[in-house]
Amino acid sequence: MAKTIQTVLVVGAGQMGNGIAQVVATAGLEVILNDISFDYAQKGYENIDKNLSRQVSKGRITEEDKAAILSRIQLSDDIADGRDADMAIEAATENLDIKLDIFRKLDHTLKEGAILASNTSSLPITEIAAVTSRPELVIGMHFMNPVPVMQLVEVIRGLATDEEVYQTVVDLAKQLSKHPVEVQDFPGFVSNRVLMPMINEAIYCVYEGVSSPQDIDAVMKMGMNHPMGPLTLADFIGLDTCLSIMEVLYEGFGDSKYRPCPLLRKYVKAGWLGKKTGRGFYVYE
Ligand code: CAA
Repeated sequence: MAKTIQTVLVVGAGQMGNGIAQVVATAGLEVILNDISFDYAQKGYENIDKNLSRQVSKGRITEEDKAAILSRIQLSDDIADGRDADMAIEAATENLDIKLDIFRKLDHTLKEGAILASNTSSLPITEIAAVTSRPELVIGMHFMNPVPVMQLVEVIRGLATDEEVYQTVVDLAKQLSKHPVEVQDFPGFVSNRVLMPMINEAIYCVYEGVSSPQDIDAVMKMGMNHPMGPLTLADFIGLDTCLSIMEVLYEGFGDSKYRPCPLLRKYVKAGWLGKKTGRGFYVYE
């Protein structure tokens, strides 16, 4: 039988975290939106406010709906604020040590029986679960960016994840109007195992001078009907995130087909991380 989830602690108020907080609060649940500083949490909240205002201006929700959604979001700079939450969804930086540290804290802080989910895009759920005293309650809940728009959620079973926990997260995803897909815990899951090698290959095409970023994107947009070309998408996701996912695939499978393109490494070293830093394969004003 699935558990009832009423309050969700979202750890990380960045691009993914604030999107998750928005959809959870929109579905009528209480949210504690946590980050390492109150300022970061506030920035996430402002983005939600902006997104909801757009929904109001399009006549999809009323001002009252917007106020009700925002009233369900409490900001926090201390994980202990979520001690009574039924579930945590971690959406911090894609770095294993940072995530392991957060999961140790969540395990010590959250009430017995609370589910600990990670929005990791490629790191092993089983390894994250192993640093807690409740691996059966640890699971992957991988949303896609932009969270309020994209329908998919990958639900990743760690080696020890309980069936009841899996069912609870599937039900929650449906409650958020998302389409859950069951995935086993292997590097990159399904989404990034398929997506990232395509992006990496597009970067190789730039590296080898096969074509320009604009034309490579045009091929995939106009030739394959993708909503964004792979290089625009890489800039949107963040080139640091793309590189770390390629590293996970390369190390996890030990197969040279996942070798990150040297040009991707070079851009990341230069601090050209895509849209968020104003420069990646394109320049953003
Ligand atoms: N937050 C919230 N809403 C957003 C948004 C954002 N960041 N960006 C766009 N939207 C909304 C817009 O408001 C608009 O909503 P309405 O239809 O209600 O007006 C809608 O999305 C469409 O936006 P636009 O008309 O401005 O532009 P578009 O038609 O080009 O769509 C897009 C934008 C939805 C991002 C589309 O380009 C797209 O689907 N791109 C591909 C996205 C993708 O592949 N995401 C997966 C990334 S990989 C990932 O997330 C996994 C990982 O682990 C790395």
